[in-house]
Amino acid sequence: PSLGVVLVAAGNGERLGAGVPKAFVELDGRSLLEHGIRTILALEHPGQLVVVVPRARAAEALAVSHGLGAGQTRWRVSVVSGGRERHESVRFGLGALHDSVDTVLVHDAARPLAPAELFERVIAEVHRTGDSVIPALPVSDTLKQVDDAGVVHETVDRSSLVAVQTPQGFPRETLVAAHETAQLQEDEPGAQAPPTDDGEVVQRAGGTVRTVSGEMRAHKLTAPHDLLLLEALLAAEAA
Ligand code: CTP
Ligand code: MG
Repeated sequence: PSLGVVLVAAGNGERLGAGVPKAFVELDGRSLLEHGIRTILALEHPGQLVVVVPRARAAEALAVSHGLGAGQTRWRVSVVSGGRERHESVRFGLGALHDSVDTVLVHDAARPLAPAELFERVIAEVHRTGDSVIPALPVSDTLKQVDDAGVVHETVDRSSLVAVQTPQGFPRETLVAAHETAQLQEDEPGAQAPPTDDGEVVQRAGGTVRTVSGEMRAHKLTAPHDLLLLEALLAAEAA
């Protein structure tokens, strides 16, 4: 049995607006991509890491993984080019998995501080249940449903809502089949909006998706203020 990790790093980072693709932005002197690859190469379960980056960054991504000593680990690293949308990048990553992989994690490079324990927690729950598993945290804001004009229609009951993170874990066959189903549905008239995480891809295909508790440190870098939060988390750990 072996693990495959698809690290998606092919987005443009438009909301961050750093002028370079987000995974190549630095946090504490290292790119987000480097933070993610380091954590993954140190996991207890070695396997295959597929890094998905913008086409023009492929050589650089390979160099980063070599620089981190990937050759001296039991990991095998592949780099592939991404797609226009996240789910397309995931699909390209899945296409590069070796036959021996039976459990897949999909992780956002934009969550550079997601700790190894979170990866291990997700893997353990996939192995225990045979289902798909995503990390989730309670929502703290009060949530409202509004219309196009911004007028409030109702307050949404928060007690059954969670905010989800990555890494998300799946039996390989489940995730691959769900992405194939999603791809067929994409071309139909009246297709749904693209899924923003893999849990949704599986759930739309009728699979069971379970949650495990997420981590504050798996926070996603989306806008400039998130960089301040991640820097503060790093500083608190170093202290
Ligand atoms: N991603 C990807 N390929 C895409 C779009 C996104 O691999 N075509 C990856 C990003 O690199 C990121 C993760 O998916 O690690 C989550 O996406 P998001 O936070 O939306 O990143 P970006 O798409 O880069 O940011 P933005 O939406 O602000 O442009
Ligand atoms: Mg995006």
